[in-house]
Amino acid sequence: MPDTNNDYVIMFAGKGGVGKTTCAGATALHYASLGDTTLAISTDPTPSLLHIFNIEDKQKTAKVLDGLHLAELGIGEVKQMWDRKFGKELYEVFSSLVSVDYDEFVDFIASILPGIRDEFMVDYIKELSQERKYKRIVWDTAPLGQTLGLLQTPAMLREHLKPAPRIYSKLKLGKETRRPVLDIIKGWESLSGEDMDFLRHGVRFTIVTIPEALAIEQLDSIFDEFDKHGLEAEQLVINNVIKEVTGSSFLQSKAEQQKGYIELLYRRYQGLRIVELPLFPYEIKGIDGLKDIERSLFK
Ligand SMILES: Nc1ncnc2c1ncn2[C@@H]1O[C@H](COP(=O)(O)OP(=O)(O)O)[C@@H](O)[C@H]1O
Ligand SMILES: [Mg+2]
Repeated sequence: MPDTNNDYVIMFAGKGGVGKTTCAGATALHYASLGDTTLAISTDPTPSLLHIFNIEDKQKTAKVLDGLHLAELGIGEVKQMWDRKFGKELYEVFSSLVSVDYDEFVDFIASILPGIRDEFMVDYIKELSQERKYKRIVWDTAPLGQTLGLLQTPAMLREHLKPAPRIYSKLKLGKETRRPVLDIIKGWESLSGEDMDFLRHGVRFTIVTIPEALAIEQLDSIFDEFDKHGLEAEQLVINNVIKEVTGSSFLQSKAEQQKGYIELLYRRYQGLRIVELPLFPYEIKGIDGLKDIERSLFK
């Protein structure tokens, strides 16, 4: 059952270049213009969220308008979070066994526990949503492969941690140091459980695609992954739809081709809310461009 207290995080997922960041920006703008304090946050390692709002310099956060904040979540923020939640504790235990400096230790943990960075990204967004500082959070993600990894991580980490108590309790640690490690592992297990719950009940997913063969093929794999983890998408955006063809045989032919794919999408994803976005004859950048997208998205 969806947790209605928590269902105001909207995530945009899809293949690279289909318009996720554009839709996320336009959606954030929409909520901000309704008076909701909104955060648009990107977990793409090569983010373009600030860029699309014409914020050119190397800032990681910005306030674009009253009530509209942008943030790009990088490895630095995730490391800080790791520090705060678990890192220092676990480091104390390990450094009593082997001499290793902290940065090396963090890299080591990240390498033996794949997906740890993704886990903390999910956890970071979960905490942001619980803080209630923003009325809306719009979550712009990396291209499909990485995002699926992000969604799988909490479940995967749980699996990964199953044998951990057995392994760690065999380490020849003193009585005082053995407990903390086991406690930390337990803490991690419950963290990944909570993060999975957050993804299931606290996030609404929009999948973005374009009417082309490759993009549509990849949709199947995203829906399969969603099913596997008990996640449900609520909306499908078909972007770059050619609406005006007058006088151009080139556009006419492109539009014909798109039509077949669009029909296929409506047939295949009947249970979903489907929204079409026109292909604009210009690049979408800055508030004015995003407003054009907003108007089509929230018609
Ligand atoms: N409907 C559209 N009409 C015209 N250009 C678009 C449209 N949607 C997206 N774009 C442009 O396509 C490019 C890729 O969009 P982007 O949102 O960055 O994709 P993603 O985040 O999925 O990689 C951007 O330059 C954007 O301005
Ligand atoms: Mg993007």
